[in-house]
Amino acid sequence: MSHLRRIISRGQIRRRVKELAAQIRADYSGQRPVFVCVLKGAFVFLADLVRQVGLPLEIDFMVASSYGMEKTSKGQITILKDVTAHIAGRPVILVDDIIDSGLTLQRLREYLVGRQPASLRVCALLARERVLAEGTHIEYLGFSLPEGFVVGYGLDCAEQHRELPDIYVIENE
Ligand code: IMP
Ligand code: MG
Repeated sequence: MSHLRRIISRGQIRRRVKELAAQIRADYSGQRPVFVCVLKGAFVFLADLVRQVGLPLEIDFMVASSYGMEKTSKGQITILKDVTAHIAGRPVILVDDIIDSGLTLQRLREYLVGRQPASLRVCALLARERVLAEGTHIEYLGFSLPEGFVVGYGLDCAEQHRELPDIYVIENE
């Protein structure tokens, strides 16, 4: 049996998203950034974030190969859906749900840099303390967290729990 333990409330998320949006608004004033959302997990975060940024902006989506029913990375990342926007010469902000091993982020960064954006920054809702300690740089980060599989606010476990408004860790009993 496993159960869900709430670790980040909707109130905490709302406040942090506002802070991140304010930073982005200040940093991109006078620009029209393209927000590239990594599906599916980041869709709730993206929707809340862009409504707080208060700048003219564009939205696009990418799909990278997921873990499917498994909980650990296979190491190989494939791009299943590419951006449709013309991002060359544009400021791009990559929006992801959680940076776990950092592999997806590394792969997507390399790929997008190849498309020659004017700039590329990453905005992630969550990142593991481990990957941050290893030196992975995330320009806009919501929360750092220890090990433990998390769900809710867009994040899933085998396609379950994305709709939950708060963030939970799955605990095995
Ligand atoms: P990475 O390539 O190991 O950094 O993992 C990237 C992707 O794996 C994330 O964007 C998530 O979609 C998924 N993922 C990793 N850890 C979790 C978790 O704890 N809950 C839900 N999805 C996760
Ligand atoms: Mg993801």
